[in-house]
Amino acid sequence: MSSSTPIDGFGLGLRTEHYADFERDQPPPVDWLEIISENYLVPGGRPLAHLDRIRADFPMVMHGVSMSLGGTDALNRDYLRELKALAARVQPAWLSDHLCWTGVDGRNLHDLLPLPMNEAALAHVSSRIGQAQDVLGRRIAIENLSSYVRFASDQMREYQFVAELLRRTDCLLLLDVNNVWVSSVNHGFDARAYIDAMPAERVVQIHLAGHSVQGGLLIDTHDAPVCAEVWDLYRYTLQRIGFRPTMIERDDQIPVLDDLLAELDIARGIAAEVAAATPVMT
Ligand SMILES: [Fe+2]
Repeated sequence: MSSSTPIDGFGLGLRTEHYADFERDQPPPVDWLEIISENYLVPGGRPLAHLDRIRADFPMVMHGVSMSLGGTDALNRDYLRELKALAARVQPAWLSDHLCWTGVDGRNLHDLLPLPMNEAALAHVSSRIGQAQDVLGRRIAIENLSSYVRFASDQMREYQFVAELLRRTDCLLLLDVNNVWVSSVNHGFDARAYIDAMPAERVVQIHLAGHSVQGGLLIDTHDAPVCAEVWDLYRYTLQRIGFRPTMIERDDQIPVLDDLLAELDIARGIAAEVAAATPVMT
């Protein structure tokens, strides 16, 4: 079993634009950081030097985009072994990737593509999560996707698919509240019903992010502040499942760190309100 450093509280995604902020003698008020694993799958050099310096001050989680758990090519065992080696260095609380596929016939499409919500896909992904966990020697967390299309072969709603996947496997859930909201608008389902269907005991982390509106669809662009509807859904999520380590993702139009810290304070405020309103069992 791999060693790991637990996380709690409020985090941010580590981006190169903020390396200097996190390497200051007085580190910013962030409890933990999430790294994009692929940025550090390199033999030495500056990215790993930054990573080691910042890791000395911050617990971390690792978040990947290349596992292609829904793909039909064999899992990339070299990639998994590289991830495992990086995890030995970082000692993350956990590793996560997405409930998606990213390529076919050896071609990486560099996109997180949705799966049909049906029994065949459930069996396929369940098996591959088991294989990936066997190579990594630990449980992984999977993240729900934003999506813009549905398949003619769909047999269930996404929240039914995710809940059943968690029932069939022992993996953990990284619940992206923005993705729930984006998909709920694009596909016309009740975002709160999605949250209600998630097994609280399996949720280990929450993502918040901004999105954009294009041609009547919500697009998961991570280039804007978290919107009011997503803050409301975050509040509802905490009321339903209790607090989980929460972070904001920003991948484009990256602002100065103080802007993200101010946004993180909104999450802190909501969590404090929910905690204050929750009756204490005596
Ligand atoms: Fe996310």
